[in-house]
Order: sequence, then structure tokens, then C-alpha cells
Amino acid sequence: MNIHDSSPHPEPNNRVAELTLLYQFSNTMLSTIRLNKLTHLILTAITTPSSNLFERAVLFLRNEKSDVLQGMLGITRWLSEDLLIVGDQDTLGSRWDLSDETISRQRSTDFSMQIRQTRIDIDDSCPLIHQIFAERNVCRSDDISCHNCQTCHFIKPLCNGSFVAMPLVCHGKSIGMIVVDNPDSGREISSDNINFLRLFANQAGMAIENSMLYNRIEEAHLNLKDAQERLQHGERMAAIGEMAANLVHELKNPLVTIGGFAGRLLKLLPVETRQRQYADTIVSEVCRLEKMLVEILAFSRKPTICFSSCDLKEIIQDCLTDCTTSFEDHNIKVSLSGDGSRWGVSGDSHQLKQVFLNLILNSCDVMPEGGELSIRLTPGKAAGDKKTVIVCIEDSGGGIQKEMLPQVFNPFFTTKVHGTGLGLAIANRIILNHFGSIDAHNTGKGAAFIITLPLAEQTDINKGCQDDRS
Ligand SMILES: Nc1ncnc2c1ncn2[C@@H]1O[C@H](COP(=O)(O)OP(=O)(O)OP(=O)(O)O)[C@@H](O)[C@H]1O
Ligand SMILES: [Mg+2]
Repeated sequence: MNIHDSSPHPEPNNRVAELTLLYQFSNTMLSTIRLNKLTHLILTAITTPSSNLFERAVLFLRNEKSDVLQGMLGITRWLSEDLLIVGDQDTLGSRWDLSDETISRQRSTDFSMQIRQTRIDIDDSCPLIHQIFAERNVCRSDDISCHNCQTCHFIKPLCNGSFVAMPLVCHGKSIGMIVVDNPDSGREISSDNINFLRLFANQAGMAIENSMLYNRIEEAHLNLKDAQERLQHGERMAAIGEMAANLVHELKNPLVTIGGFAGRLLKLLPVETRQRQYADTIVSEVCRLEKMLVEILAFSRKPTICFSSCDLKEIIQDCLTDCTTSFEDHNIKVSLSGDGSRWGVSGDSHQLKQVFLNLILNSCDVMPEGGELSIRLTPGKAAGDKKTVIVCIEDSGGGIQKEMLPQVFNPFFTTKVHGTGLGLAIANRIILNHFGSIDAHNTGKGAAFIITLPLAEQTDINKGCQDDRS
């Protein structure tokens, strides 16, 4: 039911009407958890024509981290007409609601967008900010002497006439403010309406705080769930690793025997016979299996990392030199850039080389004749202003299918007939052990792998060996 259908219309100075409005707000608060919807309901209720309180309302919330007042929403009366009353009004069980369409219309007005782009520093020298945050008291524009500061600079153009700013107080702290005015009629804001706004803002402050708490709990819950899943994944991986190590151990000895005897057989058989061809296949397949088992064993063992000071560009250059024949055979154009400076990292050069070799070989595998491989080193910054090096390896091999992207770092994930699917899993583990990160995405032309590693400060070259952290 629309609020206009309710009869009789609540009068502005009518206590029953005010109490009904507050009661409906309590009910609304109990059933609205989402902060976004709550802010729309709060401003709509005090601007809706039938409440006849204010013609326009704006909500600002304090961002604790950056200590600024952040504009959240601004609503004018003509978009507040669609406030719905849900439930039985006679038993005071009713509450307000808004359709998704109204919410989106209210959000997309120029006025609301302008408000949402507004950030005001919480500067105590501004009389309005002082009144709202230090005094936690209502502030009328007519009562304050404007210092022409940043706050007025934002609020004045919004409120052509006089306005009232009311703090949203929760647990004795101002968490934001509601600003109201009557720009259409120019009607003065009565003290009755200010008193009502005070009561209303008290409830609104608590409702907003609860809603923000709920959001934080929900976020913490998601983080916890994510951590639990990663832990379970880690446990599964550890179990797979142990099983793989046992299996490899059992398979290796008979495989060596088969390979040995097949090799001997090969020597005994005359060339260009079918039997020789068969024995040849057995020997090469056994070789491939042995190589695979060695890789699986390497993955399932916990390697020791020997940290020393090394130059990442030199390591990558070494890998490129090792792959020269592959590049020449397939006419692949390679470029390595990253100014002349030294890209010093503290790490295990053998393991880091393994990472870049795996990535370069993967790119070679997918690129057609005349492909392009570009490797760029650029400086970056991590949390706490720590300097990092970002290595971007980009190829022109067509990229990775979208649905496969999240899986490429999983052990044993491969799309190749003879692949083990361990190259990227090993690379990921090595980079994590070096306190870095590795990511993959598509560029349109091919795949790009981005590796971030902490740059070694001259003083923190961490020499010595330590066990794998995973
Ligand atoms: N540059 C790339 N372009 C397109 N797909 C890629 C690229 N790099 C990796 N992939 C995809 O990711 C999969 C996993 O790669 P990974 O290096 O882990 O294993 P693999 O290359 O298949 O086998 P292995 O490296 O053990 O011989 C590949 O099979 C391939 O599908
Ligand atoms: Mg590979």
C-alpha cells in the first residue's frame, strides 16, 4: 500500500503521526539489514510528501579509515512519493519498503550522484563539523558563522536557503549526519520538525551502525570461509603429495628395470625391423615416464630454499639463453625490457630460474610460428610501501580459456597430451615461498603471467637456507 493511501494523513505536528512514523521506522530497522536499502528508507521517510517534514535530505557517513565525511545519498521529495507501507497499520505492525526500481531511480539522479562524489575532511575548525562531531548536536545554517571552508564549499551550493544538519549518534559517537532543507517552498524548518529529526536520527544512527556491523560480520565470515577452504585445499594437496610420493617410489624401480631391459633389447635387434621400432617406443615412453615421476617427486617433496642475493633480470636472461634453439626453430621474437638497473631479490636462483623456464616453455608450447614473447620488469609497491619488482611475461599464443583460468595453478591440471600439469603449480609454490605472488590473465593476443617479488633492500639480503613454507 502506498503511504498516500493511508488515512488519515499524518499531520507534521501531530504527536501520534510522529510516533507512528518512529514506530514504523523501528519495525523497518528490524527487518532491513542491507545498508544501501536502509539509507534509502531513512531519507525517503523524512522527505515523503505525506510526512510533510522536509523537501530534501542528504546522508553523510564518516569513513573511519580516511577520516572524511563521505556523501552516501541525496533524495528530493518528488522521488519519495513511492514509499510503501507493508503490513497491518492498525496493529502498529507496519513497516516501510521501497521497490528496487525506486531505489535505482533515487540513486541515479544528478543530485544523488553529486552527493555521492562528495568527500569532506573532518576538520574541527569548521563550526558545522565541530558542532556535529565534537558537540554531537544539531546545527542550523542560520546559527553558524561560515568560515568559507571546504565544508561550506560543498554544502552551501546544495542548500540554497537555510538547512539543518543533524548528527547520527551511536554509542556516544557521531557516525555521520543528515542534512535537510526545503528548497522548493523556501519554508523555514520548524523547531518541532527539528525535534522530530533528532529522535529519528538517534534511531537511524543505531540502525546504520547495526547494519555496518552486520556487513563486517558477513565479510569476516566470508574471509573465514575462504581461509577454511584454502586450509582444506592445502590438506588435500598434502595428502595427494604424500600419496604421489609413495606411488612414485613404488613405480620407479620396476620402471628402471623395464627401461634397462628395453634398452638392451634395442641394441640386440637389427635396424629397420618392426621389433626394433616397438622396443624404441618402449624406451622413449619409459624415459618420458621417468621424467614425469622425477617431476612428481620434486613436487611432493618439501624443497629447501637457499636464499642469496640475485639479479632477477640475469636469471631471466639465463632462461632465454637456454631456450634459444626453441625460439630459433619456431621463429619466435623475444624481447626483455626493464631499464639498466639491477633488479636485486633475495631468493634461490635455481628455483627462480625454474619458475621462469616453466613459464617461457609454456608460452613456446602455445605460440605459432612467428610468435612474440615479451618480458618486462617494472618497479612496484606492496603494502607498507615495500618496493617490489613486477615481471610481466606476455605471449601471442591465443591465451587460456576463461573457464580454465582459475585452474591453471592446480597441480596436475594440464591440457597437453604429454604434460604433467605441474609446471605452474611448482612455479606458484616457489613464488609464494619467496613472499611474492603470481597471476594469470588473457590479453586478447595471448596469455600474460604477472609475478610480483619483493625487491631486496641493501640491508635485508636474507642469506641462508630454509624449509619450504607451504
Ligand atoms: N602461456 C600459456 N598460454 C596458454 N595456456 C597456458 C599457458 N601456460 C599454461 N597454460 C595452460 O595451463 C596448463 C597448465 O600448465 P602447466 O605448466 O602447469 O602444465 P603443463 O605445461 O600442461 O605440463 P608440464 O609443465 O608439467 O609439462 C597447460 O596445460 C595449459 O593448458
Ligand atoms: Mg608447463
